[in-house]
Amino acid sequence: CRHASDVKRRAPHGAETEKCARADDAQSGDSDLSEQIKSVTKDSHVRAENTELMLSYQKGNISLQQYKLLLCSLHEIYRALEEELDRNSSHPGVAPIYFPQELARLESLEKDLEYFYGQNWRERVIVPAATHRYAQRLRQVGKENPEFLVAHAYTRYLGDLSGGQVLGRITQKSLGLSGGEGLSFFSFPGVTSPNRFKQLYRSRMNSVELSQEAREGVLEEAVRAFECNIEVFDDIQKILSVTEKANMQHREATHNGYMSHGA
Ligand code: HEM
Repeated sequence: CRHASDVKRRAPHGAETEKCARADDAQSGDSDLSEQIKSVTKDSHVRAENTELMLSYQKGNISLQQYKLLLCSLHEIYRALEEELDRNSSHPGVAPIYFPQELARLESLEKDLEYFYGQNWRERVIVPAATHRYAQRLRQVGKENPEFLVAHAYTRYLGDLSGGQVLGRITQKSLGLSGGEGLSFFSFPGVTSPNRFKQLYRSRMNSVELSQEAREGVLEEAVRAFECNIEVFDDIQKILSVTEKANMQHREATHNGYMSHGA
C-alpha cells in the first residue's frame, strides 16, 4: 500500500484510496481538507493574532468595553452562522460537520449579553459595519454555496476550541468575574476533550466529498472568513478609539468650563 496521501493525490475517488486511507487512518495526508485549510489560512491566522484586540488578549489584558463590543459582534456572527447551518443541516457538505449540541454558541452569547447589558440588551447591542458585512456573507454562502459553510464553521468553532479556554481565563481575570458569570461563550459543556473533538471534527471535514472546484472554493472562503474576523476586530478597535477621543474631548471641555467658571 503506497502512502495514503500519494495515492489520494493521484486518484481522489478511487477504491484504492479508500483502502489506503483506512490503513492510514490515524495519519492525515497533505490532500486532506483539514490540512489544506490549516495551511492556506496560516498567514491569516498570524494576522488575526496581531490585531490590536487579539494583542490585548495575549497581553492578558482585555477591557470591559472591548469585551462587550466583541460579544455584540460574536452574537451577530453566530446568529447568522448557526441559522445557515441549521437550515442546511441535511446538505451533504454540512451534515458531517453539523454539531449543534456540542458547538452552538448563540444561547450562551445571549446569556452573556444579558449579564453585561441587562434584560434590554437587544436594544443596546452595537454592531459595527464589518460585522454586518460578515453576517451578510454568511447568509449569502448559506443560500448560494452551502458547501462553503464548512470554511466558516471551521474558522470560528475550531478557533474557539483551540484558544477559547485561555481567552476565557484572561477575560475572567481582566474583568474580575467570578462563578463563570458572563463567560458562557467560552464553555462547551458538550465537549469533554477539545483536542479529541477537534480530531473528530477534522475527520468529518475530510469525509466531505468535494469536486476540485468546490474544494478550491472552500479554501478561498476560509481565507475570506479569517479576513472577515480581522475586519471585525479592527472595526471594534476603531469604535473604541473614537469613543475614547470623544471622552477625552468631553473631559477637556468640562475641565475648561470649570476653569473659566473659577476665573
Ligand atoms: C488554532 C492561538 C486567534 C482560528 C490555534 C492554536 C493556537 C492558536 C495555539 C492551536 C494550533 C494547533 O493546534 O496547531 C491563537 C491565538 C490567538 C488566536 C494566541 C489570538 C489571541 C484566532 C482567531 C481565529 C483563530 C481570531 C479565527 C477567527 C483558529 C483555528 C484554529 C486555531 C481555526 C485551528 C487550526 C487547525 O487545527 O486547523 N490558535 N489563535 N484563532 N485558531 Fe487560533
